[in-house]
Amino acid sequence: MALRALTGIKPTGEPHVGNWLGAIKPALALASAYETYYFIADYHALNIIYDAEALRRNTLSIAATYLAFGLDPQRSIFYRQSEIPEVFELAWILACFTPKGLMNRAHSYKDNVAKNLEAGKDPDHNINMGLYSYPILMAADILIFSANVVPVGADQKQHVEIARDIAERINHNYKTGLFVLPEPKIDEHVKTIVGLDGRKMSKSYDNTIPLFLDEKPLLKRINQIVTNSQNPEEPKDPDLSSVFNLHKLILSESEESELRSRYQVGGLGWGQAKKNYFEALNAQLQGPRKEYQRLMADPGSLQTVLAQGRDKARAQASVFLEKVRSTIGIR
Ligand code: TRP
Repeated sequence: MALRALTGIKPTGEPHVGNWLGAIKPALALASAYETYYFIADYHALNIIYDAEALRRNTLSIAATYLAFGLDPQRSIFYRQSEIPEVFELAWILACFTPKGLMNRAHSYKDNVAKNLEAGKDPDHNINMGLYSYPILMAADILIFSANVVPVGADQKQHVEIARDIAERINHNYKTGLFVLPEPKIDEHVKTIVGLDGRKMSKSYDNTIPLFLDEKPLLKRINQIVTNSQNPEEPKDPDLSSVFNLHKLILSESEESELRSRYQVGGLGWGQAKKNYFEALNAQLQGPRKEYQRLMADPGSLQTVLAQGRDKARAQASVFLEKVRSTIGIR
């Protein structure tokens, strides 16, 4: 039987080129080799989004994005986390097997504490229990569907290890193999994707290229990529150029080496280099952009897709949870 891959997507805002190449594309590619589960981690987003309209909009927008890039809801199970109540019951059960010290060592909690201390504040300033127990809910997401592999960014590796740790504790206590031990799957090819200013592409730096801009604003955005003052004739070091580093990500190997030498021989000005990147990117985004706009104009169809995913997911989750309940003596 095919192994199961599962991944969650936090609906935190306008998706950009970094999300696409770093997360969406590699995650969707798994559908050919694995039984795939994709879900919108809307209750994880409640950690940071306290604006009801924004949360609603982001959720639909993420659903439309994945579908626009080819997620096939017949082949994969695609649902909203909040619609699977079994996940939250399991999260409580897992919490009862999670040492508090394990949560104290979670990176994102530790980072927040460190920032507070640096600022001379109380260590737990602005840290809510949602942030603190975030890894437990994530473990429930993973374990309830017995996922074998969890494709995530390097920043989420520890969370998958925590899920594994909790699963092992329960298996050990009840002498069972009920919980499948998940493995993180980190795509090594995906290096940091640079933004307009050469730093990592990230909303917090305001240096992103949003995925669904119309052509004109897309070109405008690409023209904002920071370059040096070399004139067109000068040979350029492609590896030092953000334009090249972005452009190569959407090229085949042979196209990449061809573009590389065009930089190196000189004669390619920055204006032209950006225009070339725009054209290549636009050609790849055109189709998804249209599909995204169509779906966003028809939220009813998105809801239908998500409702079908929910039904498939719940049918499995409820069977698994019943086994857990009986294993632990609640039934
Ligand atoms: N924490 C993940 C992120 O921030 C999102 C997520 C939630 C997730 N639950 C998950 C990812 C389960 C993989 C599996 O990106």
